Amino acid sequence: MPDLFRDILKSSESLFKNEVALDPEFVPKLIQFRENENQYIATCIKPLFQKRNGKNLIIHGPPGVGKTLATKNVLKELEEETDDITPVYVNCWKKNTTYQVVLELCKAIDYKFIQNKRTDELISIIVERLNKKSSVLVFDEIDKIQELDILYNLSESLYRKTIILLTNESNWLFRLDSRLKSRLIPDQLEFKPYSLTETKEILKQRISQAFPPNTINENSLNKITENTFKQRDIRTGLFLLKESAEIAESNSSKKIEMQHVEEAVKRVIFSDTEKLDEEEKQVLEFIKTNMEKTTGEMAKLYEETHKKSKRTFQRKLNNLQKSNLIKLDETESPRGRSFRVKPLTEF
Ligand SMILES: Nc1ncnc2c1ncn2[C@@H]1O[C@H](COP(=O)(O)OP(=O)(O)OP(=O)(O)O)[C@@H](O)[C@H]1O
Ligand SMILES: [Mg+2]
Repeated sequence: MPDLFRDILKSSESLFKNEVALDPEFVPKLIQFRENENQYIATCIKPLFQKRNGKNLIIHGPPGVGKTLATKNVLKELEEETDDITPVYVNCWKKNTTYQVVLELCKAIDYKFIQNKRTDELISIIVERLNKKSSVLVFDEIDKIQELDILYNLSESLYRKTIILLTNESNWLFRLDSRLKSRLIPDQLEFKPYSLTETKEILKQRISQAFPPNTINENSLNKITENTFKQRDIRTGLFLLKESAEIAESNSSKKIEMQHVEEAVKRVIFSDTEKLDEEEKQVLEFIKTNMEKTTGEMAKLYEETHKKSKRTFQRKLNNLQKSNLIKLDETESPRGRSFRVKPLTEF
C-alpha cells in the first residue's frame, strides 16, 4: 500500500460509534415530546379497530419538527399491532404524479402485475384490495403533489380508512378544492417547533447513539443546541454534530471541541446559501471580510476589486436580505443615509 494511504488510514481512526445515527432518515429509539401528537393521531385511527370509518387528518408544521418521524412511527406500531389495517406511506415530493403514487400504492399492497395496465385500472385494483381491510394512508409532503385526483378517488371509494396528509403549509387546506375538502373533512394537527430544552434532549439522545460517552462536552453541545433552536429544525443539529465530528477527526482530536463546533456552524450558513447564485455567494464572502464598513464603502471597494458596478452590488445585497441572511441597519453618517450589514445567521 502506498505510504500516502497508509498515513490517511492511520490518522482516520473514527470518532463515531455509529455515524448512521446522525442521518436525518435514521429512526431514533425514542420519540420524545410528541406524546400528545401521537395520541391525537391514534384517536383518528381508533374507529378502524372497531371496523368503522376513521377520521382524516392534516398535519402541518415547519421543517424538521418530527412530522414524518411521528407518522411513520404510528404506521410501524400499527403494523406490529394488527393485520386488519393496511399501512401505506407515500412521499409526494418523490412521487408527485398520479401514476407514480399509484405505483407506490401497488407496492404497499404487494401487487406486482402492473405491466400494461392503465392508471384507472390499477386504482380499481388498489381500492378493491384496500377495501378488504381497513387502511391508514399517509401522504407526506402533500403540497408537492401535481394532481389531486388520487385523493378524490381514495377518499370516496375506501370505506374504512384514515387519510393523513403532511405539509409545511398551514393554509394548504384552505387552498384545497372545496369538493375535495368536503370529502375529506380532515381534523387538523399542528406540530410546533421544540423548545430549547427539548431540542437539547433530542440531540443528546442522538449523540448517545452516534458517539462513545464523553465525546462532546456540555459547552459544545449547548452551542449546537442554540444554533439548532435558532433554525427550529432538528436536522440542523444533526448536521452540526456530524460536521463538528468530521472536523475534529481531521484535526486528529478524540473529542469534539468548541473550535470544531464553531467551524461547523460556519459551514451550516454555507449550506443555507445553496440557493444563492455565484455572484451572491461572492458578495456574501466579500461582506464577511468587510463587516466594519458601511454598505456604501463596501460597494465602492467591490467596484474596485471586482470590477462590478455599485448598483450590481446593491442588488445582490438586497437579495441576500430577502434570503434572510443579512439585515441592513441604518447608521449615523455625515454623508446622508448609510447602512451597515448585520448578519442574521452566524458568520
Ligand atoms: N421528538 C423527536 N425525537 C427524536 N428525534 C426527532 C424528534 N423530532 C424530530 N426528530 C428528528 O429530526 C429529524 C427531522 O424530523 P422529521 O423528518 O420528522 O421532520 P419533518 O417535520 O417531517 O420535516 P419536513 O417538514 O422538512 O419533512 C429526523 O432525523 C428525526 O428523527
Ligand atoms: Mg417530513
